Amino acid sequence: MKTFGDRENGTQAAENPHGPRMGALEIIWPYIRPQRWALLLAIGLNAFHGFAITFQVFTVGWLVDWVLGKGNLPPDMWRRMLALGIGYFLVSIFGRMLCWHLGYRIFTRVREQMLSALRARFFRQLNALCLRFHVKTSSGELFSYLFGSPLNSIVQFYQHCSVGLAGALTTVFSAVGMLLWTDWILTAILSLTVGLQVFMMDRARRTNRRIHLDFQKLESSVTGTVADLLRGTRAVKLYSMEKAVEGEFGEQIRMISSKSYERDVRVHMEWMKQETIGYAGFALMLAACAWQFSLAKITIGEVSMFLLAFQQLSGPLTIISQAFALWGSAQASIERIGEVLRATSTTPDPAADQMPVPPAGDIEMRDVHFSYDENPVLNGVSLLIPYGQSVALVGPSGSGKSTIAQLLLRLYDPDRGAVLFGGQDLRQCAGSEVRRRFGVVPQDPFIFRTTIRQNLRAADPDADDAAIERACRLANAWEFIEKLPEKLDARVGEGGSTLSGGQRQRLAIARALLANPPVLLFDEATSALDTLSERLIHETMRRVCAGRTTLIIAHRLATVRDCDRILVINNGRVEQDGTFDALFGANGLFKDLVQGQQLQA
Ligand SMILES: Nc1ncnc2c1ncn2[C@@H]1O[C@H](COP(=O)(O)OP(=O)(O)OP(=O)(O)O)[C@@H](O)[C@H]1O
Ligand SMILES: [Mg+2]
Repeated sequence: MKTFGDRENGTQAAENPHGPRMGALEIIWPYIRPQRWALLLAIGLNAFHGFAITFQVFTVGWLVDWVLGKGNLPPDMWRRMLALGIGYFLVSIFGRMLCWHLGYRIFTRVREQMLSALRARFFRQLNALCLRFHVKTSSGELFSYLFGSPLNSIVQFYQHCSVGLAGALTTVFSAVGMLLWTDWILTAILSLTVGLQVFMMDRARRTNRRIHLDFQKLESSVTGTVADLLRGTRAVKLYSMEKAVEGEFGEQIRMISSKSYERDVRVHMEWMKQETIGYAGFALMLAACAWQFSLAKITIGEVSMFLLAFQQLSGPLTIISQAFALWGSAQASIERIGEVLRATSTTPDPAADQMPVPPAGDIEMRDVHFSYDENPVLNGVSLLIPYGQSVALVGPSGSGKSTIAQLLLRLYDPDRGAVLFGGQDLRQCAGSEVRRRFGVVPQDPFIFRTTIRQNLRAADPDADDAAIERACRLANAWEFIEKLPEKLDARVGEGGSTLSGGQRQRLAIARALLANPPVLLFDEATSALDTLSERLIHETMRRVCAGRTTLIIAHRLATVRDCDRILVINNGRVEQDGTFDALFGANGLFKDLVQGQQLQA
């Protein structure tokens, strides 16, 4: 089973066609299983309509031989004609159309139920997967799985089968069976041609699966790149990259268009091969019919029946052949979706004996080692933060402060060592449960494209307007919200693009305060504010932080003066630990950092 582990490039591993693979049927069986009876009924109805088609094929032969009496008109010809006509009509309406339509209805309903189940499961899986997976897989690519060509090709295959695959199979088998009764040589030619075509179809399916897999991989990567380009519109304008970006987009489009040309042409070539076999078989059949008729082995009616059957069978055969081709592409899609569905989180919720996260408690890291990929980021971090303490994490950029925060939140698990909350190892707890104990203002707060109220309620879905206003006032956010014509109902742009950097931060602070969590974690939460606002917020923080643990990651050291304790992080280790005054009094990194900032000021 694949894990998005640290040394493994998840996407590449996912795409390795030589690795242990789970069959497409195995992957989709859980979605088919609940619908199996409905599906069987639909297949039965569809198969039954195939017999009606065979009946239709034989009508011509019966007209010539039975109604028209092989040249000597029988006395009750009109009665026979009437019987054949009525029989034909009834079989067509009830045997063919009604069964076909009812089967199709069931198929279509089942399709929607299976699709919804698969989409929901896929989305749930994306939510359950760890950050390692998401950092490595582009959101555009994941979006394409849910609504793009992988699912579409599965739907296309299913749709094709539900229109008439079962019917096509019964038509072929029943027609061949009935013809065998009439003349075995002609039936042998017919069956040989059919058999050869089916063999070619299966070969084509294998080729197609490969072609489609290649195409889908390319398409996913292009979707990912294009989604990135669109998301980065602001940066593109800022750096006048329009020309370069258009060039890159053009390149991606060219790649995709040449690959789809190649794909479609190769798929068409496979069809051409099958048609050739069909025409050769028909030519042989013409000669054999003439030969058998000259030997008086078959009647004119039977000749017409065979020739018509050959022609008529090309319809069901095309349906079967296309099903093979479409299965090739659906199989590729299912396998790709399956890779994501089977990917495991590197921070899994414990299945058995999951421990509850204590409502509040000390935070502890014991000799934690951690790396995102090859390079170690944390090299043995040990710290103990008693409940209620306010602690600042400071240190040079890239030293590992945000990483420590992510491990405390169980967004990642340590490679070695342990992270504990209230004495509980986080690996024994559900990640979402852990994060509920924290009010977090990250370095780059994400603002959803919805109203300000909905954005704030992300922290507490039940919060009423009074509570929201209180949190906003504490975060100094109310003053700008109040000025908006629609106040809390104002909608913000994608990623908070209609707000200033400082407004976004204040909104994120209000969001963190709203949930009233036992631990507040601020990662550069006030870096985008002017000094006055920053001071105001730190004053309120001191008020609201009483009685809970506060972790503040800050570059501006003046803002952490009043913290109970300061941890200086350097090269993935805790280098110094003490109060502001004690650390400033001693020689070391902290003193250098403070003096550096005083020089700047
Ligand atoms: N998702 C990631 N994948 C790979 N490497 C990462 C990832 N996130 C961070 N790093 C690396 O880990 C190291 C520590 O990063 P971290 O974000 O913890 O630093 P920081 O102390 O918070 O820095 P800053 O003060 O600039 O925010 C950096 O070298 C960074 O390049
Ligand atoms: Mg950081």
